[in-house]
Amino acid sequence: MAPFRVAERGAIALDMERVRLGVNVDHVATLRQARKARYPDPVAAASIAELAGADQITIHLREDRRHIQDRDLHLMRQTVTTRLNLEMAATEEMLKIALSVRPDEVTLVPERREELTTEGGLDVAENYNDLEETTGRLVEAGIAVSHFVDPEPQQVAAAAGVGAGIVELHTGKWCESPNSSSRARELERLRAAAKEGREAGLMVAAGHGLNYHNVHEIVSLEDIVELNIGHSIVARALFSGFEQAVRDMLALMVRR
Ligand code: PXP
Repeated sequence: MAPFRVAERGAIALDMERVRLGVNVDHVATLRQARKARYPDPVAAASIAELAGADQITIHLREDRRHIQDRDLHLMRQTVTTRLNLEMAATEEMLKIALSVRPDEVTLVPERREELTTEGGLDVAENYNDLEETTGRLVEAGIAVSHFVDPEPQQVAAAAGVGAGIVELHTGKWCESPNSSSRARELERLRAAAKEGREAGLMVAAGHGLNYHNVHEIVSLEDIVELNIGHSIVARALFSGFEQAVRDMLALMVRR
């Protein structure tokens, strides 16, 4: 999937290119689940994000159902008009759900119950055979498959090897770098992994920990064509409204 020209969306700037935005609405559900209430509804948030120009809606159905519920997935399959990207662990339970609901894309992520959020990337190299089988079953069903990996060449190569068409690079370590030298080093790792992914024929995405202050640096990496962003957009939406929060992020995702 090539990045598209902003002009295709009717903008005036003819030679600008925008990175695609997948809006992750998990934390709208986090707020709802804090009271086990019926609101705020992530399904409504997904529609507003699309109205604001999001290219994709991303949700993570976790084993413990701490935020997104099965009901959200089923409703979004019916209402999302762009692309629905389901993040999930490569378990038999999740595979069954994905094959029945058929999101446009599945992003395979590692999952530990005790983690606050997805902490590391998938170890594709170590779990090659299992992931080859899971990826194959999803691809056979017509679902695009992405692997969420740390920016390491061997993981990117393994993702391509087991048949994923997309690789999502984990930007968490870069976001949390304690000083400027480790930050520069992490950015170079992301740049190199993205190049490796593109050269292996993968579509390269990235995400985790991106916000309104740091996203421009990732946007400057030309081999990355899509970002999945959640927490910072939902947090900003509390003060600016969801539609404005998505628009503000999109405005920062233009490559000059
Ligand atoms: N991409 C993946 C694979 C994730 O697991 C997450 C977090 O759910 C994100 C992107 C979005 O991260 P954040 O909420 O920090 O923007």
